[in-house]
Amino acid sequence: MARSRCTAGLVLVLAITAATLSLTFCSLEEGVALHNMMTKWNVNIPSWTPGSDPCDGWELILCTNGRVTSLNLTLAGISGELPEEIGVLTELETLDLSENDFRGSFPDSLANCQKLRVLDVQECNWNVPFPSVFLKLSNLEYLSAASSGLSGRLPEEFYAMKSLKYIYLGNNTQLTGNLESFTLMSNLVNLTVWSIKFDDYVLPEKLSTLKNLQYFNCHDCNLHGGLPESYGDLTNLIEFNVRRNYLTGGIPESFKKLTKMENFRVDTNSLLGPFPNWMFSAWPKLSSLYISRNQFYGTPYNISYLETRFNLTSRFKILRWDCNYLEGNQPCGNAGGNNCSIETVANTVGEVVEILKFAFNPNCYDDVPTDIISQVGYCNAHTLTCDAFYNEVVNQKVCPACPSSQTLAAGSTVDSGCLCHAKGSDSGSGFPVNAVVGLVVGLSSLFIIILGLVIWKRRKHFSFFDIFSNKEDAFDEEWEMPASVHRFSVEELARITEDFNDSHIIGHGGFGKVYAGTLDDGRMVAIKRASAGSLQGVKEFRNEVTLLSRLHHRHLVRLEGFCAEKEFQVLVYEFMKKGNLATHLYGDHAKFGEKTKLGSPLPWYKRLEIAYGVAQGLEYLHSFADPPVIHRDVKPSNILLDEHMMAKLADFGISKESPELDTHISTRPAGTAGYLDPEYFLRRQLTTASDVYAYGVVLLELVTGQVAIDHTRDDEYNLVEWAKKRFRTAGIISIIDPSIADDYSKDAFTQITELALRCSSFSKNERPTMKEVLAILDPMTANYDLGYFFEEK
Ligand SMILES: *[C@@H]1O[C@H](CO)[C@@H](O)[C@H](O)[C@H]1NC(C)=O
Ligand SMILES: *[C@@H]1O[C@H](CO)[C@@H](O)[C@H](O)[C@H]1NC(C)=O
Ligand SMILES: *[C@@H]1O[C@H](CO)[C@@H](O)[C@H](O)[C@H]1NC(C)=O
Ligand SMILES: *[C@@H]1O[C@H](CO)[C@@H](O)[C@H](O)[C@H]1NC(C)=O
Ligand SMILES: *[C@@H]1O[C@H](CO)[C@@H](O)[C@H](O)[C@H]1NC(C)=O
Ligand SMILES: *[C@@H]1O[C@H](CO)[C@@H](O)[C@H](O)[C@H]1NC(C)=O
Repeated sequence: MARSRCTAGLVLVLAITAATLSLTFCSLEEGVALHNMMTKWNVNIPSWTPGSDPCDGWELILCTNGRVTSLNLTLAGISGELPEEIGVLTELETLDLSENDFRGSFPDSLANCQKLRVLDVQECNWNVPFPSVFLKLSNLEYLSAASSGLSGRLPEEFYAMKSLKYIYLGNNTQLTGNLESFTLMSNLVNLTVWSIKFDDYVLPEKLSTLKNLQYFNCHDCNLHGGLPESYGDLTNLIEFNVRRNYLTGGIPESFKKLTKMENFRVDTNSLLGPFPNWMFSAWPKLSSLYISRNQFYGTPYNISYLETRFNLTSRFKILRWDCNYLEGNQPCGNAGGNNCSIETVANTVGEVVEILKFAFNPNCYDDVPTDIISQVGYCNAHTLTCDAFYNEVVNQKVCPACPSSQTLAAGSTVDSGCLCHAKGSDSGSGFPVNAVVGLVVGLSSLFIIILGLVIWKRRKHFSFFDIFSNKEDAFDEEWEMPASVHRFSVEELARITEDFNDSHIIGHGGFGKVYAGTLDDGRMVAIKRASAGSLQGVKEFRNEVTLLSRLHHRHLVRLEGFCAEKEFQVLVYEFMKKGNLATHLYGDHAKFGEKTKLGSPLPWYKRLEIAYGVAQGLEYLHSFADPPVIHRDVKPSNILLDEHMMAKLADFGISKESPELDTHISTRPAGTAGYLDPEYFLRRQLTTASDVYAYGVVLLELVTGQVAIDHTRDDEYNLVEWAKKRFRTAGIISIIDPSIADDYSKDAFTQITELALRCSSFSKNERPTMKEVLAILDPMTANYDLGYFFEEK
């Protein structure tokens, strides 16, 4: 309806005058539609002014030939439905609604958008059955609706949408469908359907006809049966992920043909076979290999051979074969555990950082006396001990028990990987012999498991109940405790802080108190204990520990360990002897508007050094992962200094993630006044650019010695505004910290101020990235020898 009006206008105007006028007419109508939608969503996008042309500088919109062709509302803080006005945008090619609180059904008018090629509706709360209007988008190539609460069965017509190349439907746990039917979509390149429970229950052989398929992800799909031989024909595969299913059998020979494979992930299944050393040579691009928690046996190539022959450390991002039945010597030697896995690699700025890349234990290594204990729980799918496995399976060729509710496929043997089928799907005649074997083996291993638990209990002083309660079990299924951090007991922490005595308190935060303590080995640590009001869920806390344990950088305060028991959620960090930057700039009782400076002010080159260090820490956070880790609270009191006055960022993490999502119920601020990204008020979201803004404020503080918000300061209490005005009119001399005023590099500080003002630009598009910041600081610091700085103080 709306569409025909616009077309009629087009014809009419074309008849009278030049094409440009007619186009304006259409886009004006599109502007009205967009403005109406914005009003319904109750958000304010300032540039969307009624009566103006959306192609004339409206945000979040792209135009081609005077018509709106792209609308990108990702993370725009929208709550509500998709109004039918969307159907006015008939030239739309890209529609991105992702990561908002969109809900409800899609309007039929969406079918007017026949040119739509890219539709991204993921991470919203639609909570509807698969929308039938999608089926009418006959030019759609890219559909992303992951994590969006879709439910019910994928309609049969969906599989007939031949234009589709990229499908992301993962994490819609209420959705069902038929995996084999995707073979109808002959152009598929990406098929990401994890956590969907398909009714065919197996990896369909016919999927091998999808010759263009590059990415296949069906983890947690409740799949039974084996890896089809026919998949060797999927020679464009780059990523294959079927982790956490119930797959059995071996890895077919034909997989050697998958020479483009980079990421192969079959962990947490019941695959069985000799260790596939052939992958290292057959797949030259392989960089992530997860075959943990299966039943592989034999001896993997040793580490030194992998290094010399296959450039192990530079080639692999992830290499994991823990929890199999592998022989040979422990790859990391006796003491190492998984620790030879802590790789030091150079990051993007040439920093040497530590990353957990490899995990090889536990297994059945020759130089480990018995690994029964470590396999209990952690390798929980294993029903056999190492001895039993090698006696019965490898030597006597008896298949191990199938996963529950499955039976051994007729004719399957150890050499063919002991393929199992879902019960009922196989013509299982009579009583399968292996069920008996399985039962006997199962009973005897139950005895061994209990024995193991008793021994374990004695060793670790765990209570027997704790192990079964699964609540805080370090080895439970759901949580692979990071190997790089120590798990402290409440008793230990209470002892070194004299029962969390106030005399040990060194700081307070929104989350609780920070205590100092000295470990038995003499190291001092800072102990952050969450107060009752800020306890997180067990899962959230674990996620935080896992994330923090992966972040290793010389300019980030190091996580030493944690404690999670009863009402205790504690993070233990390295102790930073010289306190925080705020104290060094403003004195002991640094507060806004209160300055009592220390006797010796920070020399200017030290300030430069601190600025550089903080920038490196932030850049690491931003580039560490996708999505990036956002610090969210960069400010001098979160910049700590070690005994060499080296700066390290503290208080980064994910626990502050939620508050900004809903402005109406949010009580906690996302960040600290004076450092908070002004665009936050516009979009209600913090981004890496928000950290850059706060970093700019810190730079200004280093240059000026002025606090971020000071209500006593002249006419301007906001430091950014204050410095901007003065610097632009009277230069560096008008803002420099008087305590270094007669001894500083004018050039360096002018440059830093310019950088600071760019970082704290109002619009995030004008701010540099941390990478760009580093490129500017790099030559400035290159003139100074770090060693010289470290001798200071
Ligand atoms: C929408 O914008 C975001 C960043 O603002 C970008 O990452 C994303 O790729 C865009 N979506 C599409 C479909 O282009
Ligand atoms: C899966 O979806 C749920 C809710 O829909 C969400 O909380 C969770 O973060 C999603 N998981 C991933 C890995 O995207
Ligand atoms: C296909 O999927 C892979 C892995 O998820 C991703 O890296 C790639 O960008 C996707 N390609 C497109 C065009 O979506
Ligand atoms: C590693 O494997 C290679 C090749 O199989 C062998 O020559 C070498 O001796 C092994 N090294 C160690 C330390 O086991
Ligand atoms: C290993 O690295 C060296 C030097 O970087 C390179 O010449 C060689 O081709 C690499 N070998 C393999 C198998 O990737
Ligand atoms: C790994 O082992 C080395 C040497 O024993 C030790 O210095 C280091 O702290 C260990 N790393 C981790 C993360 O356990």
